[in-house]
Amino acid sequence: MCGIVGYTGAQPAQPILMEGLSRLEYRGYDSAGVAIMDGDRIRLLKAKGRLSNLGALLKGSPLSGQTGIGHTRWATHGEPTDLNAHPHTDMKGDIALVHNGIIENHARLRGMLEERGCAFSSETDTEVIAHLLNLLWDGSMLSTLQRALPMLEGSYALAVLCAAEPGAIFCTRKDSPLVLGLSSQAQYLASDIPALLAHTREIELLEDREIAVLCPESVTVYDAYGAQRDLRPTHVDWDVESAEKGGYPHFMLKEIHEEPTALRKTLSAHADGHMLRRGVIPITREEAQSLSSLTIVACGTAYHAGMIGRYAIERLARLPVAVDVASEFRYRQPLLDKDDLFLAISQSGETADTLAALREAARLGARTMALTNVVGSSIAREAAPNVLYTHAGPEIAVASTKAYITQVEIMLLLAVDLAQKRGVISEEEASELLADMAEIPAQAGTLLSCEESVARFASRHYDRRHVFYIGRGMDHALAMEASLKLKEISYIMSEAYAAGELKHGTIALIEEGTLVCALLTQPHLADKTLSNIREVKSRGARVLAICTESLQEKTAAAADEVWAIPDTHPILAPLLAAIPVQLLAYHMAVSRGCDVDKPRNLAKSVTVE
Ligand code: M6R
Repeated sequence: MCGIVGYTGAQPAQPILMEGLSRLEYRGYDSAGVAIMDGDRIRLLKAKGRLSNLGALLKGSPLSGQTGIGHTRWATHGEPTDLNAHPHTDMKGDIALVHNGIIENHARLRGMLEERGCAFSSETDTEVIAHLLNLLWDGSMLSTLQRALPMLEGSYALAVLCAAEPGAIFCTRKDSPLVLGLSSQAQYLASDIPALLAHTREIELLEDREIAVLCPESVTVYDAYGAQRDLRPTHVDWDVESAEKGGYPHFMLKEIHEEPTALRKTLSAHADGHMLRRGVIPITREEAQSLSSLTIVACGTAYHAGMIGRYAIERLARLPVAVDVASEFRYRQPLLDKDDLFLAISQSGETADTLAALREAARLGARTMALTNVVGSSIAREAAPNVLYTHAGPEIAVASTKAYITQVEIMLLLAVDLAQKRGVISEEEASELLADMAEIPAQAGTLLSCEESVARFASRHYDRRHVFYIGRGMDHALAMEASLKLKEISYIMSEAYAAGELKHGTIALIEEGTLVCALLTQPHLADKTLSNIREVKSRGARVLAICTESLQEKTAAAADEVWAIPDTHPILAPLLAAIPVQLLAYHMAVSRGCDVDKPRNLAKSVTVE
């Protein structure tokens, strides 16, 4: 999705803005632009395509000045063209702004502005804001914005430059992320924390409809009613290195290699030795016992983590769990009330559908919680104080890996916690599970050494036109994630199937040489899945099986190739089996020459519906 950066200080703004934009490239974009105050004149440049196109333009005619804004655009209204790229200006070029989000009443505003003589130069919804600010201009951008914002419907993160007030950047947000980076000599803003890490880790979070005025040595924030409020900066402990590739060819590979550390950090934040930390999971024993159900809502990979959670929670805590994709949940008039627990899962904490689902659940009176990786994100703030954090560090690759594995880890911890509080398992049983869980980071580290054989396998099979993933129970949930991972970065058509369901139709697609990846980590289901392997093998499929060590021998008798993961408690096995399937997707994509970290059409954080 679109990215925003802004800088005001004593240094030339252009390189700082370009560096910030480069750190937001991972979000996905198709054009970019910057606007910089040159004295009391706004100058801007924008270009379709990669940031390097804008870089080339700026090399030919650099923009001087110490206050500026920049943007990477992911097209929603209007094609990705130079003209549709941000920043957009009013007709005189005295106001320039960048915008993330969607102005839903843009057509009505555009009609009104055209009637008053405004000539538009782009097809975007954003341009209406620049003309509207010009129309309402009263000599102060702060009060002009305060009068304009109530006229905008939809979502926005906005950063505005104004020729009449050089040196200042005005910014605001509603349902779209925007954070400020504070320092003594210069101030920054961005749509995402990694863009700020090279300069500061003191982050000021803006609430919906607040307006901030950034000057080189000061930041002033006005609440939605226009009253000035004190700053309440948050210190983020992410470091710059964690947002850099650190010698790896891709962020995705680096992030897979960070999984043992991410698992360890997440576990130690929630458990002390073999005991869950008290109060970390915000639900009391009484509440846990009176619950009638848990509803988990998320999108994409986070939804798949929720699916694993369903198996674990139903099995351990004997609580009915429903899992829904957020874009469906919000429109299906869900049935929830105060006895239902609701959990929104989102790595970024900014996914528009998940945020809307969380709001809907709260409106219905359900007890709401969130699971996210980003402190201060919209979803975290909306669910506060009931927030479970993964400690994965910044995830830059579009394809989620370390965030997924830590989401699964938290789901398992939640299962243990609920099971204990509901009196289904004893303290000893819980502590045994946690002891096994404490072994997982080291086992995950060992598993990473399978990478060479995964890469060899990928080099033999990367030209497949389609791949099936099959499994039962938790393995089916992991198969769904394995399949998404493969298709989003390698563009190979792939499907995940409950292994027992294949024969009800899909088996018709199996032919000589079809690649089937079977997951067998659940001993009580292994024989059933082995039968399904034989079914597809007898129809010509080539089968790669990923199983636990103790199932290796009998699996080898049925499949063409077997990769083994260390034995562990079956409920924990998906944490280990996730690693080879992520590596497989990665190496298939690399072998096919795909842009692994920035797959086509995708964005890291989907902040529009
Ligand atoms: O930030 P979120 O966890 O809410 O994002 C949800 C999905 O958009 C995300 O998981 C997406 O499916 C990734 N591309 C998966 O790799």
